[in-house]
Amino acid sequence: MLQGKRIVLGVCGGIAVYKVADLTSKLQQAGALVDVILTAHAAEFVRPLTFSTVSHRPVYTDLWEPTGQAAARHIELGAAADLLVVAPATANTIARLAHGLADDMLTAVALSTMAPLLLAPAMEHHMYQHPATQANLRLLAERGATIIPPETGHLASGEIGAGRLPETPVLLTHIRRLLGRDGDLAGRRVVVTAGGTQEPIDPVRYIGNRSSGLMGFALAEEARDRGADVTLIVGATNTPPPDGMRVLHTPTALAMRDAVREAVAQADALVMAAAVADYRVSEPATQKIKKGSAAENADGSLTLHLVRNPDILAELAEERALDGLVRVGFAAETTDLERNATKKLKSKRLNLLVANDVSKAGSGFGTITNEVTLYHADGRIEPLALLPKTEVAAAIWDRIVPLLKHKT
Ligand SMILES: Cc1cc2nc3c(=O)[nH]c(=O)nc-3n(C[C@H](O)[C@H](O)[C@H](O)COP(=O)(O)O)c2cc1C
Repeated sequence: MLQGKRIVLGVCGGIAVYKVADLTSKLQQAGALVDVILTAHAAEFVRPLTFSTVSHRPVYTDLWEPTGQAAARHIELGAAADLLVVAPATANTIARLAHGLADDMLTAVALSTMAPLLLAPAMEHHMYQHPATQANLRLLAERGATIIPPETGHLASGEIGAGRLPETPVLLTHIRRLLGRDGDLAGRRVVVTAGGTQEPIDPVRYIGNRSSGLMGFALAEEARDRGADVTLIVGATNTPPPDGMRVLHTPTALAMRDAVREAVAQADALVMAAAVADYRVSEPATQKIKKGSAAENADGSLTLHLVRNPDILAELAEERALDGLVRVGFAAETTDLERNATKKLKSKRLNLLVANDVSKAGSGFGTITNEVTLYHADGRIEPLALLPKTEVAAAIWDRIVPLLKHKT
């Protein structure tokens, strides 16, 4: 999503300036072309060399530098930009942007560009709360700017309050979302499930599986970055879910079933990447099962009676009201991949089934890569190479988008 995107990054003279060097580097690594503009006061904190080294591009500080070209640099930068990010946005620059000043490179680009404006205010908390700053931010938001709220915590002044620049991943999420707002999933509502489920045995134990949630998270992030309104339904995972979406936590298969049913009523597509337990303990113990307790058999063994969990996709297949929903299932198999995949595709009336042999190296649970085969409803079988899960996610949405085309 960031590949080849032109991002003008305006950096102001705030103490959080050092964090933005990391942001620049991450954007560059993701393939974006980052044109950094330092205000004169930002250059008091960090030299342009830092930014040009991490962006691999020139850094702009001086509006008055002769370029030898017809279009002045600020017009050229503004015209080429896909997005203008100002981080950290100081109280001073926020005020100047709000009032349309254009007496340095950053403010001149801000007036000349048609690109969306993303601001990350960061300052001492009294400066942030000051009515002037708040009024200026409101004015900018009314004109269409997106404001990333500062975080609350320890400030450079030693006080605790709202004014911290969020960490790089949060800034990146906002950037990706804004760049993707006109993407091929713009206006679509999608539901993605991720992670395993935990079926309780007693209040402290459960039956779980090895799903990490990474594939589902990659799918949810990719959809978000293509402009979708994403509901992510997460079972059990140790990884925090991505930002910028509605996240519902559903530890058990039954809870996940209920959440999915409610969410798909409004959705265009459902991608079930969660590893939902097929069975649950019929009656979980209300107290912790102890050795030697009445729950044990005479020989000291313990018997758990398991019952079938509902098959979420199979249930949805019965619902005619959901015929328009594009459904994608996953099949993690260790044997008979093709036969099981084809059977699932048909019986669950899926548009696409993503099958992987989880016994293969680099594929399946806990890995950052995946090697999958796509089974299409029209009978096509499409093996993909071993790819990072982010790229598998992109390939899956590439296949889903045309299926959504006929929907209004
Ligand atoms: C050590 C130091 C830290 C500062 N940190 C901030 C800050 O975090 N946020 C802010 O809005 N202003 C901060 N200021 C004040 C700005 O640097 C000052 O308002 C400056 O005019 C901003 O210029 P610019 O917006 O053109 O970059 C700081 C000043 C100093 C000396």
